[in-house]
Amino acid sequence: MSAPLHVAFRAGASGRWRVDAITGVVGASLPAAMRLDLVEAPVLPSADGADWILRGMTSNARYAHRVELDRLALVQEGLGRSSATRAALIAIRKSEAWWALAQDERRAIFEEQSRHVAIGLEYLPAVARRLHHARDLGEPFDFLTWFEYAPEDAAAFETMVSRLRLSPEWHYVDREVDIRLSRQSDASASGRRRFAVSSQQVVHPVPSEEVEVAKPRSPRAKTG
Ligand code: HEM
Repeated sequence: MSAPLHVAFRAGASGRWRVDAITGVVGASLPAAMRLDLVEAPVLPSADGADWILRGMTSNARYAHRVELDRLALVQEGLGRSSATRAALIAIRKSEAWWALAQDERRAIFEEQSRHVAIGLEYLPAVARRLHHARDLGEPFDFLTWFEYAPEDAAAFETMVSRLRLSPEWHYVDREVDIRLSRQSDASASGRRRFAVSSQQVVHPVPSEEVEVAKPRSPRAKTG
């Protein structure tokens, strides 16, 4: 696993992403904002002038088994694809009942009962993702989940989110705010559409020939 990456989601008047909607799914929502930036840095920006700022960091996997990690590594793509002009920041807090469980009990709810990874894998590589942990940072949410996808994959993304929200794992979610974002398309956007057909039948990712034109991006999301 690569070294933990510190990130901040800074909402304010400026930022790479336009905020299209902020929805309080469970519990209190977040204040309205116009733009959002994902800042990756060892020293994170101050909240001065921001509408709000949420901090998190990547970490090691807790629940995924080796076979699941290998399958993810095979199909997932990294953030920053030029065609991925839609994004979702879904901030989640889990209940005290969840945190009172033992690790093996949480794993059973997460995968054997809820099929979180199995469902998620069906939507890769169209959706790129990165999980950030925030609970140990004393933040208002336990997790900041970040997803990027092309506009033509937006309906599939909604289906995935709905399926996960119906699962037993979500009984333990006591605050969830769903922030949807979009950005201007790069001139080089290719609009390719690549799905794994099912969690059993995997389409190998097409090697990316996309050139990064903006700030350096993280390598493939290996965590979470
Ligand atoms: C894009 C498809 C998805 C895949 C492949 C995926 C995969 C995973 C994996 C492998 C983990 C476990 C990491 C570990 O072992 O610690 C995880 C955790 C998590 N995912 Fe997803 N996920 C997906 C979509 C989503 C969505 C749409 C949401 C939110 C609506 C979400 C929310 C979370 C949360 C909150 C955790 C942390 C769970 C915990 O540690 O209690 N995931 N995901």
